[in-house]
Amino acid sequence: MLGKNLIFYVMGAMVLALGVSSCQPDEEPDINLPDSNPAIEATFGNNIDVDNPFNYANPDIPNYIVKDNTGNNPITDRGATLGRVLFYDTNLSTDNSVSCATCHQQSAGFSDNDVQSQGVNGLTGRHSMRIINTRYAEEERFFWDERAVSLEIQSTMPIRDHGEMGFSGENGAPDFNDLITKLEGIDYYQELFTWVYGSPEVTEIKMQNALAQFIRSIYSFDSKYDMGRAVAPNDGAPFNNFTANENAGKNLFLAPPQFNQQGERVGGGAGCGGCHRPPEFDIDPNSRNNGFIGVIGSPGVADLTITRSPTLRDLVTPSGSIGPLMHTGFNNTLLSVINHYDNMLPSSDNPQLDNRLRPNGQLQQLNLTTQEKQQLIDFLNTLTGSNVYTDDKWSNPF
Ligand code: HEC
Ligand code: HEC
Repeated sequence: MLGKNLIFYVMGAMVLALGVSSCQPDEEPDINLPDSNPAIEATFGNNIDVDNPFNYANPDIPNYIVKDNTGNNPITDRGATLGRVLFYDTNLSTDNSVSCATCHQQSAGFSDNDVQSQGVNGLTGRHSMRIINTRYAEEERFFWDERAVSLEIQSTMPIRDHGEMGFSGENGAPDFNDLITKLEGIDYYQELFTWVYGSPEVTEIKMQNALAQFIRSIYSFDSKYDMGRAVAPNDGAPFNNFTANENAGKNLFLAPPQFNQQGERVGGGAGCGGCHRPPEFDIDPNSRNNGFIGVIGSPGVADLTITRSPTLRDLVTPSGSIGPLMHTGFNNTLLSVINHYDNMLPSSDNPQLDNRLRPNGQLQQLNLTTQEKQQLIDFLNTLTGSNVYTDDKWSNPF
């Protein structure tokens, strides 16, 4: 142990002596950094204080939240601050019209109220995903179809996407190297990259780490559900701050259904919690598709690859509005979602349908009563927080 520390100490001293820094974010007191950052001050004013950045590194998370996919990219205050700037910067698109936040708006739970979002070269093929509590999940893969193996890899894919931000190198479009040259020519990035990484060079890995840190920093644990959960022994116990209907809805959400040979529910609940697992309400990494297999704008075409859902927290905003749902931006009412699971309709051949929704080889019929559906809706509404929609640390710094 002592030997190891000594090696680190010597290496640290060498780094200092040579004036170079590793690629890891550095939270130590300023080393080799200028005393002032005029471009950051001129661009962001009071929105970014390099002497006293927002706290991203040590979020105040309830003790019942245990899932965490941070991996080897721990959040630092400086790294997440750089990620915030990148997230809101339209310079990341070829025609300077689109930032990540164009399609992931804080007021909409970091999603978009439009079914399809406008990129530099057209509309997205799928609905934008809410990006809240992405850190607090077992699943490490991202996108509706989980094609990104990590959040780091995911975070620059929209930039390279021809339709979304355009640095694709396709059809004569600029590529990622052109973006790096562009960002290196921007004065506030010279200062920000030096502040975070000790040198002004822009690389894709530095961008990925910073963007992923910012995204993982976005959390929401101040819902009515959390107030109840904090003082309850477990999720199954009645919550003393819940109405009778909210507690009944919680039981329906949690309990697996029992089925007869025809796939009709004869007891138990609605089984939602098996895939959307409390208390994080993250998706079961083993989930397959849920029967929503449409493709926007292409009736009759099936997409069987959708196996991921954002957390079911913050489906509804504090003012009670709800955006488009599912990858197709399906009808935005919770009742229509529940009706889908309640009475699953035969659709085109779907060998990827999750077996939990096909008991005994039959499409599930939960046969929920009108009252039970309302109880589920009441419960889903308790999962909405308020701070995440307005907190300055996740807001536009420009
Ligand atoms: C033009 C709109 C658009 C832009 C710009 C955009 N996104 Fe997205 N984002 C989407 C859509 C649509 C999806 C879902 C796509 C899919 O799954 O195929 C998505 C998915 C994601 C996800 C996956 C969430 C999850 O839970 O799996 C993350 C993270 C994300 N975007 C971050 C970003 C970042 C970071 C940027 C900027 C570098 C960005 N997005 C730019 C529309 C956009
Ligand atoms: C077999 C696993 C599974 C079960 C059981 C399940 N879901 Fe889902 N859920 C998913 C998947 C996968 C998605 C993403 C589907 C898509 O976008 O097409 C999803 C999406 C959703 C969404 C949309 C989320 C968003 O951000 O747009 C809601 C709401 C939802 N489910 C509610 C429920 C409710 C309520 C129940 C219980 C009645 C339930 N789910 C049962 C797997 C499941």
